[in-house]
Amino acid sequence: MDVSRSDLILKQPVEERGFSSDWAQHATHPTMFTSAIRPSLRSSSRLAVRSAFPNRAPAFRSSGFRKYSTEAPKSSSNTFLWAGLGAAAVGGVAWYVYSSGDAVKGAETALKSGVQSAKVAANFVPTKEEYQKVYYKIAELLDDASDAGYDDGSYGPVLLRLAWHASGTYDKEAGTGGSNYATMRFEPESIHGANNGLDVARALLEKIKEQFPWISYGDLWTLAGVAAVQEMAGPKIPWRPGRIDGFAKDATPDGRLPDAAQGASHVRNIFYRMGFNDQEIVALVGAHAVGRCHSARSGFEGPWTFSPITFTNDFYKLLFDEKWVWKKWNGPKQLQDKKTGTLMMLPTDYTMVSDKAFKKYALEYAKSQDAFFRDFSAAFSKLMELGVPTPQFVVSEPWIMKNLDEKEKE
Ligand code: HEM
Repeated sequence: MDVSRSDLILKQPVEERGFSSDWAQHATHPTMFTSAIRPSLRSSSRLAVRSAFPNRAPAFRSSGFRKYSTEAPKSSSNTFLWAGLGAAAVGGVAWYVYSSGDAVKGAETALKSGVQSAKVAANFVPTKEEYQKVYYKIAELLDDASDAGYDDGSYGPVLLRLAWHASGTYDKEAGTGGSNYATMRFEPESIHGANNGLDVARALLEKIKEQFPWISYGDLWTLAGVAAVQEMAGPKIPWRPGRIDGFAKDATPDGRLPDAAQGASHVRNIFYRMGFNDQEIVALVGAHAVGRCHSARSGFEGPWTFSPITFTNDFYKLLFDEKWVWKKWNGPKQLQDKKTGTLMMLPTDYTMVSDKAFKKYALEYAKSQDAFFRDFSAAFSKLMELGVPTPQFVVSEPWIMKNLDEKEKE
């Protein structure tokens, strides 16, 4: 990758919100795009890559797994375990009582919280192994998308987006929002415009919930985000359980998630509110290496990379290597790669190279997938824990969950 030349190109003046309409025309295209096909899928027979790239050869995972930060504690921290479950039990009962007067909306959740409390009262203490079983079930359903003809052959991206939207409502000053209460189950949060299409992900996970009724929705959804990243060949994500189910009243107002049509100051406002810094913002947005936009959901259309079900640093590489021009269409402003016209970038994505401070990190991640994986893992793990009071977690140190490849080798 010829980053230095791309670097020069990207010094073209770009307006923060609209970008000057002719910036891309002045850019000379630096390099042929070489990283379209990424190694990675678990097995070519399992994951058929459909998408807009029918002629693409199946990709294979090459590298081994990276391990970051903590391994699971050898002897489990029972103090934390019991303290956490105790809190969950007390919380569940309290909500049950509260919701008896909370008319219809909370009734179903009250029942579920009641069930959770009853399990705890009956000394049902889910171990790491129990959560690992849930992880495997989620991992196994990702490829069902292939048979169902869904998108690019994996439910990973939409599950990842659910985990992020369930957590990204957090406000560190107010202490509201985040992954704790899984309030996206309730209207109006479930029908907030930003959450369009996530009913698909919630419905999929409902099948898992039926098999493991003791798990809270917040734990289930965030664990699904972790499984999605890991199974799409991304980094290991430290994760721990302890979230509890809340009620509609715990939901946050619309407008807490980022608006893709905006510029860098909006992106900063939204992510600083959650407690992230510039480096973490850039690392998180690299999740757009996977998945795609659906015009029926967000108005935007298309995938960001040529390998939309494999977690890579291609998002950054493409930002630097390709020439991006405004898409001429009857839809919201988005960029497309000039060469093939099949890839897209949102206006907010482009701030990762048009904003000087963001660009520094984007360049680092374009050059090093290891650096991206390391920083994404840390930032995403933090994102998954937003809004969860620390004593609620059942262990003091997050776990590293095994992926399906590791299970098969056992
Ligand atoms: C400035 C911040 C962000 C904005 C404005 C944004 C916006 C969007 C939009 C408009 C879509 C398309 C939805 C659709 O039409 O289906 C999308 C998809 C997606 N986003 Fe983001 N996003 C942001 C950050 C993130 C972060 C932090 C993550 C995860 C860590 C993430 C993960 C995803 C994934 C995986 C998809 C693909 C979903 C699918 O294929 O169904 N995004 N995002």
